[in-house]
Amino acid sequence: MKKSRRTFLGNSLALGIAPIIGTNPVQMLVNDKKNEKKLKILILGGTSFLGPHQIAYALKRGHEVSIFTRGKTIPKIHKKLFSKVEKLVGDREDNLEALKNRKWDVVIDNSGRKTKWTDDTAQLLVDQVGYYMYTSSISVYYPFVGDDFSENRSLVTKIPNDATEQEQPTYEYGVMKATSELATINAFGSQRSIIVRPTLIVGPGDRTDRFPYWLARLEKGGDIIIPGQKDEVVQYIDVRDLAEWMIRLLENKAAGIYNGSGPGFKMTTNAFIHGIHASYNSSVNYVQIDDLNFLKENSIIGIQPWVIQLPQFAGMSKSDNSKAIQAGLQFRSLSETVSVTKEWWYSNAVSQDRRDKILSGEQSFMKREKDILVKWQNRKV
Ligand SMILES: NC(=O)c1ccc[n+]([C@@H]2O[C@H](COP(=O)([O-])OP(=O)(O)OC[C@H]3O[C@@H](n4cnc5c(N)ncnc54)[C@H](OP(=O)(O)O)[C@@H]3O)[C@@H](O)[C@H]2O)c1
Repeated sequence: MKKSRRTFLGNSLALGIAPIIGTNPVQMLVNDKKNEKKLKILILGGTSFLGPHQIAYALKRGHEVSIFTRGKTIPKIHKKLFSKVEKLVGDREDNLEALKNRKWDVVIDNSGRKTKWTDDTAQLLVDQVGYYMYTSSISVYYPFVGDDFSENRSLVTKIPNDATEQEQPTYEYGVMKATSELATINAFGSQRSIIVRPTLIVGPGDRTDRFPYWLARLEKGGDIIIPGQKDEVVQYIDVRDLAEWMIRLLENKAAGIYNGSGPGFKMTTNAFIHGIHASYNSSVNYVQIDDLNFLKENSIIGIQPWVIQLPQFAGMSKSDNSKAIQAGLQFRSLSETVSVTKEWWYSNAVSQDRRDKILSGEQSFMKREKDILVKWQNRKV
């Protein structure tokens, strides 16, 4: 099952090891010109969130795309483009037949959910494919303690013995991503592996309500709880920026490890909220709640992943994107991200039920917000 980021909350220690491959400096790989060499691209996955955006850009650049899935997830965005994509059907668990005896220039492994899956496909494809790109995550750095979140940081490759039950899912995901990276490099070597570690991905097709929450909340207006400090840092990556950059990395054969995070400047929570609200006309009154104990008592910790006060998440928004920028990662503005995500959110790609749940579902924070505000106003200081 796909782990929700919300389940990432916990506290912890982690074992780290030095990354196996170095971070070779990549000199100005910005190459956004029309692509000269057409690539044959295989995507393991491709039909959920990140995949359709990669496909859209790859086709626009003149590449050929094959996808490998079980055929269960029906694309909800860029649907028409899938008629131009070769569809290979199998299961990463136990059926890779469709991948045998074929050649591609590059493979993108988006659907890695188990280390064994990546191990198996990397071993199988090593003589059939030039480069293996693994879609990892910044969770390989869990717990996010300290300040250095460059690609040289140690990875979490084992769940510590004293990890609590609550933090188990967080560790499992981080360890799975880290060991899958190692499986990639083990098969393809550092010269033919491209590892991308995205931070929280936002935009059309998002399966989580993390970013849509703020759109819905700011549209509604009224008294709005902003948890945490005004100047806490926010990081996210627009799915289109990530997808397009990943394709350009492949075009440039830019072997190496990269954090995939944005924006391109230090954005505070305050700037993030005001930036989104600029797209709405609602009347708003922000109530900043920075009392960690109060936030904990009222289960507000982690309602939005950009505002996380727990020590083990303190560095989650400190992912260093300088190497990625040097290698061509570019950023859309927050307003562009908002406008396209809004359009998608109100399209028939999203069910009314999902939209309603944010406002009033059982898990809805918005539903609890009024009562929490009363408590906040009546608290003894
Ligand atoms: N969302 C975030 O904020 C975030 C942050 C950091 C990293 N990431 C990583 O980004 C990656 C992108 O995920 P995505 O869902 O957007 O990718 P995607 O390529 O759009 O879709 C995932 C694909 O996996 C396929 N799949 C699932 N189980 C399979 C199986 N047993 N065998 C074969 N195919 C299978 C699904 O198709 P079928 O169901 O039809 O098989 C689907 O096409 C993930 O690795 C995730 O860990 C995400």
